[in-house]
Amino acid sequence: MTSEKPTMIEFKDVHKYYGDYHALRGITAKIRAGEFFSLLGPSGCGKTTLLRTIAGFEGISSGVVMIDGKDMEGVPANVRPTNMVFQSYAIFPHLTVAQNVGFGLRKDPRSKAEKAQAVAEALDMVGLNGYGDRAAHALSGGQRQRVALARALILKPKVLLLDEPLSALDKKMREQMQLELIKLQRQVGITFILVTHDQEEALVMSDRIAVMFEGEVAQLDDPETLYRRPNSRKVADFIGTMNFLPAKILSESGEKVEVEAEGFGKITLNAEQVSGANSGAASIGFRPETLTILFEGQTAADRESMATVEEVVYYGDMTYYDIKLDGTTETMRLSMRNVFGRPVLDIGTRTRVAWSSGALVLFR
Ligand SMILES: Nc1ncnc2c1ncn2[C@@H]1O[C@H](COP(=O)(O)OP(=O)(O)OP(=O)(O)O)[C@@H](O)[C@H]1O
Ligand SMILES: [Mg+2]
Repeated sequence: MTSEKPTMIEFKDVHKYYGDYHALRGITAKIRAGEFFSLLGPSGCGKTTLLRTIAGFEGISSGVVMIDGKDMEGVPANVRPTNMVFQSYAIFPHLTVAQNVGFGLRKDPRSKAEKAQAVAEALDMVGLNGYGDRAAHALSGGQRQRVALARALILKPKVLLLDEPLSALDKKMREQMQLELIKLQRQVGITFILVTHDQEEALVMSDRIAVMFEGEVAQLDDPETLYRRPNSRKVADFIGTMNFLPAKILSESGEKVEVEAEGFGKITLNAEQVSGANSGAASIGFRPETLTILFEGQTAADRESMATVEEVVYYGDMTYYDIKLDGTTETMRLSMRNVFGRPVLDIGTRTRVAWSSGALVLFR
């Protein structure tokens, strides 16, 4: 049981124009205190712009931005309870690590010893114990990122704003920093708002995610709901892989929808499996892992269909198959976890596949 956390950030119908360009088109959303929140969307959708309206680096054209219950209209950036970590880190190469981290405390009335203590604590928090005297220019990308984080956290903001902070790191380092950031957020307990265009990164790190397209929030949900129940084909396509098959709605009665789908035949879906925000023909969507290849002697728990293997991509722990279900014309992506003793199928193999109607989503 988790009780609903109080609201830290609230956007009420926020619009932003750059000249004629309508960059934010009516953003209404709440971000809870202490949550790890991500703004996810393709390049140019307005993520950075929205983040900057929280920091106060960017004015808004209309609407309201509230932080911790206060309207931020006219409140300058330097007195907002927020701090920002940039993609480029913006650390000072000619200063030491400790001088970088303590930079924001220049006007702080505390004694030198107290400030040094605060710097040491901040360095400890990001795993840079003992690095204080190093020259900042002599650090690796990951270490620089930690310095930037420590420098932001030492000011004890209520909200930490992170604009693609990991995009300059290589894959391994990025994955490590993702886990460190999650731990750090849990430890300090403040609200983290992360901008990313990497859907995997958002799924891994966030309590909740706002998916943005063209200046609007398309869906705001926790990672599992976004993945399992995307509210539009567009969101489904952006987050992971979703297969689509043409479908026809046969009947609807309150909680149940009866559908005839290519390859699956007649299926009955619950109302919660229906995604409404689409126009055009209906289709059935499913994730690659919701279809399973049946090997000799295995039986389907629910339903099964016949398919032909068209392409095989072996990843070691996983195999991706492109298959065509009988009675369909489109190729579908299926993923299987590789299990010892089970063969990887060849191209052209005829195979049975198991599926369950509960894993399907109807887009209409
Ligand atoms: N200062 C500005 N003047 C004019 N247009 C701007 C300005 N800043 C951003 N824009 C435009 O507003 C839109 C949103 O920009 P924004 O930087 O918020 O996108 P983003 O989602 O962060 O993209 P990316 O993933 O590439 O960083 C873009 O079309 C961009 O060109
Ligand atoms: Mg950006």
